[in-house]
Amino acid sequence: MDRIFTDQLGTWKRSLYCGEPRADAVGRELILVGWTQRRRDHGGLIFVDLRDRSGLVQVVFNPEVDAAAHEKARHIRSEDVIAVRGVLARRPPETVNPDLATGEVELLVHEVRLLNASEVPPFPVEDESDATENMRLKYRYLDLRRPRSLAPLVLRSRLTKLIRDYFDSHGFIEVETPVLTKSTPEGARDYLVPSRMYHGKFYALPQSPQLFKQILMVGGLDRYFQIVRCFRDEDLRADRQPEFTQLDVEMSFIQPDDIIDVIEGMMVLLFKELKGIDMPRPFPRLSWAEARARYGNDKPDLRFGLELKDFSACFAKSQIKVFANVLAAGGIVKGIAVPGGASLSRKELDDMTSFATNYGAKGMAWIKLADGEWQSPIAKFFTDVEREEIVRITGAKSGDLILFIADNDKVVHDSLSNLRLLLGEKLDLIDRNRYSLVWIVDFPLLEFDPAEKRYVAVHHPFTSPLDEDLALLEGEPLKVRSKAYDLALNGMEVGGGSVRIHQVDLQRRILELLGIRREEAEAKFGFLLEALSYGAPPHGGIAFGIDRLAMIFSGAQSLRDVIAFPKSQKAVCMLTEAPTPVDPRQLRELGIKTTGD
Ligand code: AMO
Ligand code: AMP
Repeated sequence: MDRIFTDQLGTWKRSLYCGEPRADAVGRELILVGWTQRRRDHGGLIFVDLRDRSGLVQVVFNPEVDAAAHEKARHIRSEDVIAVRGVLARRPPETVNPDLATGEVELLVHEVRLLNASEVPPFPVEDESDATENMRLKYRYLDLRRPRSLAPLVLRSRLTKLIRDYFDSHGFIEVETPVLTKSTPEGARDYLVPSRMYHGKFYALPQSPQLFKQILMVGGLDRYFQIVRCFRDEDLRADRQPEFTQLDVEMSFIQPDDIIDVIEGMMVLLFKELKGIDMPRPFPRLSWAEARARYGNDKPDLRFGLELKDFSACFAKSQIKVFANVLAAGGIVKGIAVPGGASLSRKELDDMTSFATNYGAKGMAWIKLADGEWQSPIAKFFTDVEREEIVRITGAKSGDLILFIADNDKVVHDSLSNLRLLLGEKLDLIDRNRYSLVWIVDFPLLEFDPAEKRYVAVHHPFTSPLDEDLALLEGEPLKVRSKAYDLALNGMEVGGGSVRIHQVDLQRRILELLGIRREEAEAKFGFLLEALSYGAPPHGGIAFGIDRLAMIFSGAQSLRDVIAFPKSQKAVCMLTEAPTPVDPRQLRELGIKTTGD
């Protein structure tokens, strides 16, 4: 059998995409092109499901219509590329396929051109496929022929088009900033690019265009945006890629509310156009302190309750040693009341305890409230007063469960916020048709990094303190709040930004507070400090994760689904196998020797 396809498309022009023919075109001669989804040989007749990005159509080879075409069709296999010319016919009523947009019609083929043969694909190119993700990414071109894989990219294309039009119509100028740029401290780990001209010197790929956009404001651009690739050498998660795309925005002569206003307008448009949802404005706002107290993190999912409660005061004199010890050491005891949670099994509670230990918790105490009695390994240690307090704080009743974690502030909030999400999933409390949008404001400006023994910026070092907190900068820097704001969507940080420091003296002071010496500040950020000293306007902005927005709007489970050629969980491009070794000559030119380990 000859599988060498040598036909050419020649002068044939596609009449319609495969997903388009409808009953109103019956009787027309059509030329259709595409991939063979499946060939079925029914004795005399051969049926081929012809596919392109728009859908499927059935084409029929009948030896009585054209014997030569029928003979050629016998050689067609899955994923072969073919072109057919034929007449569109109505299907006999009993063969109409109501699940298919083209299900009422079929093309009776007069002539077929076999344009390219395909090897047997490593997995069937159909929506229901059991191929592993890495397999799909290695053969991404086959994967993308599946409507399910293509749809998120189509949505993403609409998303960026809507965003560009929106910012254009609001007077923003799209400006491209360098990809080969300077490594500056205070972010994630950089991807570095060695310089051939200057051995021992490196460009860094941008983690964001932060300083360039600020300098564009000093340049008087007033309103800037860009859809831009950013690079961060971080550990990957489902919502993190080493290269990702930001919608980056900066504006001059504004307050936080002006940025929030522009962004709410954009989000309302996106929800309307992509989901048909009228999202009410203004979006809710929570201070960072309140979000952390009630939900344990700065990106709360407000689609369900299970708020965190503080029991520290109630257990000050507790007979439970862990609680008393933690409180004496300046820690806290917080917990969650779970309505109906008393039905969780011992095994489920043990699993939740070990889940909490992933976030540093040393244990998880629990009480099941049953009629008149409390079931708990630590029930006997509660005094009556404590019991009353627990009920007052939680409002818990018979059938509920209460969990407690005692530890330092960070461990308690990290573990409880994640337990809250786990319970939300497990108890099916999250309405998938709802969207939770919330601004988090009044972030602290600084936090103390115990590993590095110094202050680090919570947002970044260019974020302005709140005017009313400036006086605290010298004495109590950890109490200073900033003009930063994040937007959380369904429990994911989709955007974050701030009003910036536009006065060089304050910027110098903040760099000093971060432990960056004067000479170092000049060496690393001299260009920014200089720019600020030539009449920088008050300015601020925000950046959004385009991949994250596309993921949420398309209902995808992973960022990888909304990126054409994503990196695997191990930061490998499965298609090209990058990163790969390079030619020793390239390394010599760059003045680089590898240690080989
Ligand atoms: P930030 O670091 O918060 O701010 O980043 C802005 C948004 O980018 C997205 N994002 C990511 N998406 C996928 N993979 C990653 N590894 C990743 N890292 C960040 C998030 C995040 O909200 N220059 C500042 C913004 C500003 O101040 O204007 C910045 O980059 O959705
Ligand atoms: P133990 O004294 O370690 O046997 O713990 C008694 C109970 O307290 C068990 O149910 C533990 O899971 C729980 N527990 C231990 N450490 C903590 C902690 N840091 N926070 C909350 N509960 C804890």
